[in-house]
Amino acid sequence: MIRQTLRWEDLKSGNVQDPMEGLEKFRKLSVQEMLDNIENTHHLTERDQMEEITALGRELGLKELRSLNRTFLDLKEHLMDHFDKEEQVVFPLMWIYEHPTAELRTLLNELQNEHRDQERIIRRLTEEMSLLTLSLPKENAENAADMDANVDVTNIRTFMERIQSLLNDISEHIMKEDEVLFPKYEENLYL
Ligand SMILES: [Fe+2]
Ligand SMILES: [Fe+2]
Repeated sequence: MIRQTLRWEDLKSGNVQDPMEGLEKFRKLSVQEMLDNIENTHHLTERDQMEEITALGRELGLKELRSLNRTFLDLKEHLMDHFDKEEQVVFPLMWIYEHPTAELRTLLNELQNEHRDQERIIRRLTEEMSLLTLSLPKENAENAADMDANVDVTNIRTFMERIQSLLNDISEHIMKEDEVLFPKYEENLYL
């Protein structure tokens, strides 16, 4: 399955770090260190990012962002419940039990299914952002003299950039859990 983690233009401009670099460091951690890392980096920062984006969307109140905002709020609701489930139920059990129990295996499967749901909403968000970008006037276009339109376009771009940066973090986060943490735990390589 192809999973977009980064936009090519962001990589070339040096706006984002290569997630594989972070992933290689992550692989060297113990399961407990990984749990700690995920909670204190991704969960923490993504919750903050989501609150900022929610506030920005509300503050802008632009009709052009209505549909994108709804899809973003859908993703936010999924993620908030998912992070709570990981932090309050699954991660504490993984911390305590060195070997995965039957209950834990079921829970890990549920989390992985939820990741697929999140990816579906992320794809929708990405598509909506692409369509919105296509509908925006190019910078320095004919309506450059129209101040209101320019302010709106800048705000719309800012809103989408914030969402994109959240999506990059979520992709790395899902990759760490699905491809490193859960397999390592299930293989019983608890160090
Ligand atoms: Fe997580
Ligand atoms: Fe997760």
